[in-house]
Amino acid sequence: MGECSVAFEPVGKDELDWLGTGPVPAEPYFDNTWFEMEREAVFRQSWMQIGHSCELPERGSFIRREVEVLKASVLVTRGKDGEIRAFHNVCTHRGTQLVDDGEGRRNTFSCPYHMWTFALDGALVSAPDFGSFHVSKEACALPRLYCEVIGGLIFVHFGEPETSLRDELGPLAEKLDGMPVGQATTFSEYVYDIDANWKLTFDNFQENYHLRFIHPAAAKPVCSADNPFGYPVSYGFHGAHRAQRIWTNPAMPPPAPIQGEAFRRGGASAMADGLLGADTVKDYLALFPNFFLFGSPVQHFSHMVMPIAPDRSRGVIRLYWVGEDESASERFAREYAMATARDVHAEDRSVIERGHKGLASGALRHIHFQVQESLCRHLFVEVDRKVRAYRGATPEQVR
Ligand code: FES
Repeated sequence: MGECSVAFEPVGKDELDWLGTGPVPAEPYFDNTWFEMEREAVFRQSWMQIGHSCELPERGSFIRREVEVLKASVLVTRGKDGEIRAFHNVCTHRGTQLVDDGEGRRNTFSCPYHMWTFALDGALVSAPDFGSFHVSKEACALPRLYCEVIGGLIFVHFGEPETSLRDELGPLAEKLDGMPVGQATTFSEYVYDIDANWKLTFDNFQENYHLRFIHPAAAKPVCSADNPFGYPVSYGFHGAHRAQRIWTNPAMPPPAPIQGEAFRRGGASAMADGLLGADTVKDYLALFPNFFLFGSPVQHFSHMVMPIAPDRSRGVIRLYWVGEDESASERFAREYAMATARDVHAEDRSVIERGHKGLASGALRHIHFQVQESLCRHLFVEVDRKVRAYRGATPEQVR
């Protein structure tokens, strides 16, 4: 850790007592019955991040996304009017999945089974021998999902949202609008499968308590003698969503020459020159249920954890960029950044899977969160509240 100490005031032990302080039940982190309720109580009732507007650069662009936790496939299009819309990827004739390609550009989508053809806005535009049916074309449009774009990020809702996502997020929406991800035109992506529950996986990225033990090298920029665990400066909560402001160690050593060159050519000159001071804003936003974004002047990073089963998840990590690579060195810089993120993440994966194995053994009835793991507790509290409301029960007293 750095030699030079910098005054750091951790969030006080009692400041977040309103979230609860008691042990948290272990079962929701591995139990199949609980997971089945989460499908409907959490994921069908929440806005879910599904893509970025840069994936739909022109009219006719589309992406397909699988949402395993809801057994759904989603088709997102940019229409002739420029609007981004989301639909179930399901033909309204007899339910065949409409699109196989993960992305592309088309004017229409034709179902392979009987050739019903749909427009970018979901309308049924043609169907062979349609006069023999007893229904109108208007009634056969693709099933539409609520869809919103904030800060370039595309969100969908599979149910009936109580409010727009922008209203739900309030000040966090304004913060998202101002984050670098909104200007991104492309990204590097890393997809991983993990044998662990989605909450356990997500929690790993909500706390810094583990950094110095699991990532001794990568932890240096956020750890000092005054802040040996690299704890954040502050935490914030807005409904089911949460945020933290990451502390920067002004005394952190300059990057190694090759790192500096990579940062410089990747556009991150402040980091390359070691100029990040304690006032550098590095905001982390966790949007309920399974997405977080980390934005700073030099980094555009997102991570989504998709539940597959109680003991299996898929993560999607993205580094967002502005502009295409214009030189081999810029390409190198971006690859270097992605490789670094992948290396750090590889250090997390095995310990997360070990955590799941331990919990799934049933050895523990409860787990424990300290105050600097309050974002993890908040995720548990919000999931618990929604699941219990869904099944008509009262929240468990975990305080
Ligand atoms: Fe799609 Fe028949 S199921 S056209």
